Amino acid sequence: MDILAMEEWERKFVVLNTSDVDDQLMNGLWHSMDLTSQDNHLQNQWVREFERQEGEKEDDQIVAEIMGRRFFPDLIAYKAWEGFHFADHEIRITEATDCYGAVVWPSALVLCYFLETNSKQYNLVDKNVIEIGAGTGLVSIVASLLGAFVTATDLPELLGNLQHNVLQNTKQKCKHQPCVKELSWGIDLEKNFPKSSCNFDYIMAADVVYHHPFLDELLQTFDHLCNNDTVILWAMKFRLENENRFVDRFQTLFDLEMISNFPSLNIALYKAMRKGRMKARPSQLRV
Ligand SMILES: C[S@@+](CC[C@H](N)C(=O)[O-])C[C@H]1O[C@@H](n2cnc3c(N)ncnc32)[C@H](O)[C@@H]1O
Repeated sequence: MDILAMEEWERKFVVLNTSDVDDQLMNGLWHSMDLTSQDNHLQNQWVREFERQEGEKEDDQIVAEIMGRRFFPDLIAYKAWEGFHFADHEIRITEATDCYGAVVWPSALVLCYFLETNSKQYNLVDKNVIEIGAGTGLVSIVASLLGAFVTATDLPELLGNLQHNVLQNTKQKCKHQPCVKELSWGIDLEKNFPKSSCNFDYIMAADVVYHHPFLDELLQTFDHLCNNDTVILWAMKFRLENENRFVDRFQTLFDLEMISNFPSLNIALYKAMRKGRMKARPSQLRV
């Protein structure tokens, strides 16, 4: 089969056909289409519908896999905790009493799953990583277990529990012991994180955009910490229209690429870099 000689839409069918496609659906599609006589419009419609169905299936499957990484104690424990399997480790996270930093949010699982399953392309070994709004610390812990030197940050009142979780899950298990530091968005940035010494390879953030009054400060923090080569990995949970518009504001400073999308969770995972610094994306064609 000469793939290169094919039309774009035909190639898509071959690509889909060679992946684990539902045979019956595929047969039905091929049967109902007279490939030589259908016009492009109809062909595109079929492709779109097929991709939509495939996308939904993939969303369900991967979301189930991601959520399957979470487990809970068998017995009621003295301290509330939840467990996770990532990076070949069992991770136990103690919940805090604070509202937003209390639990691990699904966006954090999405980001951890991405880091684990894309560890070749996004090799974290010896990389300098900062997480903002780290909460209970799962993302920072997984990045540390994958070999990065991590700074986990959050508001001062969150740091006790964050420190406890980070220590408990990384001590003598990591190449570089992570550190925990206060970072209140927009506050004392130059004093606590001088721009001249901000040499982060990655900034990570999970579920930092929601109904709070610090969206300007959040953007300012991304801007301050990010140098020309820093890659931002940001898991965004879409909730309310007003907060969702933060994505547009973010794009005034950064180029954005959606690298995973889970419509059933309303979560998208973005890679971002300073404007003009993102390399062209390689073809997605799986031939
Ligand atoms: C929804 S939680 C997400 C926590 C964690 N990233 C996760 O996904 O499980 C939002 C986090 O942002 C932090 N946060 C909120 N406002 C902040 C601010 N002004 N400065 C720094 N951190 C803040 C909260 O303390 C909390 O840990």
